Amino acid sequence: MKSEILRLLKSSDTYLSGQQICEQFQVSRTAVWKVMEQLKKEGYQIEAVRNKGYRLVDSPDVMSKAEIESLISTKWAGRHVVYYGETDSTNTRAKEQGERGAEHGTLVIADKQNAGKGRRGRSWESPQGTSIYMTILLRPGIMPVKAPQMTLLMAIAATQGIRRVTGLEAGIKWPNDIVSLTGKKLCGILTEMSAEIDYINYVVIGIGVNVNQELFSQEIKERATSLCLELGHKVQRSQLIAAIMESFEKCYDKFMETEDLSGLMEEYNSLLVNRGREVKVLEPGHEYEAFAMGINETGELIVKTADGQEKNIFAGEVSVRGVYGYV
Ligand code: BTN
Repeated sequence: MKSEILRLLKSSDTYLSGQQICEQFQVSRTAVWKVMEQLKKEGYQIEAVRNKGYRLVDSPDVMSKAEIESLISTKWAGRHVVYYGETDSTNTRAKEQGERGAEHGTLVIADKQNAGKGRRGRSWESPQGTSIYMTILLRPGIMPVKAPQMTLLMAIAATQGIRRVTGLEAGIKWPNDIVSLTGKKLCGILTEMSAEIDYINYVVIGIGVNVNQELFSQEIKERATSLCLELGHKVQRSQLIAAIMESFEKCYDKFMETEDLSGLMEEYNSLLVNRGREVKVLEPGHEYEAFAMGINETGELIVKTADGQEKNIFAGEVSVRGVYGYV
């Protein structure tokens, strides 16, 4: 009921009478008053005026299950939220949900991770109250070999979400880092899966977005940035989460029509910062320079080498860098 009341408060620009809320949710005035008090404690500024009712004056950057659920308007992506003030890793918690039979689209969110995981065994800095750490649980009826392509769906969704909510021209560094115009990393994605040889039990796609973080460790500060540092102001995390879920649902449904990226290739390539640039392809034990052209329908990066040869690069062992920097 809390998220529903919050949704109602957010959608109304005038006062909502206590009576109106009681009738809509079939609850007592005391129950409504209690919800309002809880919301105030969480940081919402709610004005209560005798004979008029309640009005939401301001919602700062609150993160809670009710706040997120009140903003999400998708059909299935993020409709069920599992929220932690602090946890080890949202990917680990989402896998636990997967084992327990939680529904497709369940979204696990934390305000802080104490064992955030990055790709290739690295860790992911996850301080409290500043950024987004979330993982969506999916149960796609496709062959396991196709699952890595789903990481690219989240890359599109996050880039679109960031652009829509903040106006920042974020872009994708192949295959799934999101970077600012200055080429610094804003966001990372980690996909994990539980599968048999020909059957997916579940896939979890975890995303970390540096939203209001202003300080990074010595180790990553040259390469990392946040939306706040790029824009010069703070961003409401819950709004961004809702926007990413909205885009993700559309991308996923499109992907499932063909079970590949053919319907999304054009959108992905339009957001790809490597496109039309010289890149350094780093294969294990071998590196070469090439011209990046864009992805194909399975998410491989098509590059042209100096002798005019076209090559398709599969992520995994191979990565690309800009010739003069990270992008
Ligand atoms: C990368 O190395 O670029 C991937 C980083 C992925 C971080 C996110 S934060 C939410 C989710 N939970 C984790 O433990 N990792 C992912």
